[in-house]
Amino acid sequence: MTDTRLSELIRLLPGLRLSTDPGDLEHYGRDWTRRWTPAPLAIAFPADIAQVQAIVRWANGASVAIVPSGGRTGLSGGAVAAHGELVVSLDRMNRILGFDPIDRTLTVQPGIALEAVQKAAREHRLTYPVDFAARGSCQIGGNIATNAGGIRVIRYGNTRQWVAGLKVVTGQGDLLDLNRGLVKNASGYDLRHLVIGSEGTLGIVVEATLWLTSPPPETQVMLLAVPAMDALMKVFAEARHRLRLEAFEFFTDRALSHVTAHGGQDPFDTVHPYYVVTEFEAPDEAAKGEALAFFERCVAEGWVVDGVIASSDAQAAALWRLREGITESLATHKPYKNDVSVRISAVPAFMDDMHRLLTASYPDFDVVWFGHIGDGNLHINVLKPAALDNEAFVAQCEHVTAMLVDTLRRHGGSISAEHGIGLVKKPWLGSVRSPEEIALMRGIKAVWDPNGIMNPGKLL
Ligand code: MLT
Ligand code: ZN
Repeated sequence: MTDTRLSELIRLLPGLRLSTDPGDLEHYGRDWTRRWTPAPLAIAFPADIAQVQAIVRWANGASVAIVPSGGRTGLSGGAVAAHGELVVSLDRMNRILGFDPIDRTLTVQPGIALEAVQKAAREHRLTYPVDFAARGSCQIGGNIATNAGGIRVIRYGNTRQWVAGLKVVTGQGDLLDLNRGLVKNASGYDLRHLVIGSEGTLGIVVEATLWLTSPPPETQVMLLAVPAMDALMKVFAEARHRLRLEAFEFFTDRALSHVTAHGGQDPFDTVHPYYVVTEFEAPDEAAKGEALAFFERCVAEGWVVDGVIASSDAQAAALWRLREGITESLATHKPYKNDVSVRISAVPAFMDDMHRLLTASYPDFDVVWFGHIGDGNLHINVLKPAALDNEAFVAQCEHVTAMLVDTLRRHGGSISAEHGIGLVKKPWLGSVRSPEEIALMRGIKAVWDPNGIMNPGKLL
């Protein structure tokens, strides 16, 4: 470790675990995006808040940029370190610090995996309801920094709704203790909510107090085959009216074909254009009867042409795998990914417009649509045709993004629903936020991080 700046850091913090091992630089320098070549200066693994503060103060003096690093499961390049940054991994700060049965809160360090938080909640017969497929690898600090959404937002909201308190080290190394678990706190600007979703550009989350809630009563999972998007919207309206929804997700025949190629079991005999996986409360015979009546009405109206209700936990998990396995089944194709949102009512018209533009310009593209349709959140993954070289594919995908941004603007949507801006969507921020908003965001960053060391180049 010859870099004089690192030697100074070691002198200041002799107990700090620091790595310049090429394997670590490669591993910790990237997230689930694969566009950038990792090139961090080193990886620091602080063990406590005091070490995080000392690292940030050193970085200010040494003019070294910091990339805060959780599970790096993000899809927007927010945790990429490609320019000699110090990656601050929260891997070692992964403990549960306390549970309060009266407040129903769990206090945790930022490096704990989402799945471990969910498990701890269950041990207290409660639930932490934010959930998505990366639950085993992502970390709660990253979930907070990106305001992670996922498959149960329709019922429980985003991560933001569940953060009762936050300890944050600012870009200057100050420690803030925000909201302290208070349910009501009308004392001015809520800085906690500024940090949530700030993508590591204001500071580092070093501790979180999370609200837990009662688990839902018994639920049922249903897979529905749907002939058209307009019909799918009617199914959604009917489901929201009659069922207590936990999730309402969709995918297309293209998505299902990739999942089944990776071992997923299609329960239907024929291919259908769209599929819905929905989970809802079904604690008693009356609720189960209502679910059946919902299904029968959808079939009678022609909105649904086939369906399966899971009759066991194993079958429910298998139906969920058809939706949750999509990302993994596409990964080997290195898809061009997009995560967008429009108002729920605008989904069919938006998809129609995009479909028309895509088939007119790129009829050979394998376009895979899936996502959280009950939130108006769509994931569009484009796969490279075998005959096309990589460079041409990237250029054509940039054109797809331009079409997408324009279509979103016409439909009043957003270029990022839940994956964040990071590096991937940064060029397009101005299409969804006004110059005045961006100027305010820059001003806020300058106050929290006057030397611009916190995750520079991301978001703004
Ligand atoms: C999902 O909903 O499965 C995730 O956002 C991951 C993805 O978009 O690939
Ligand atoms: Zn998603």
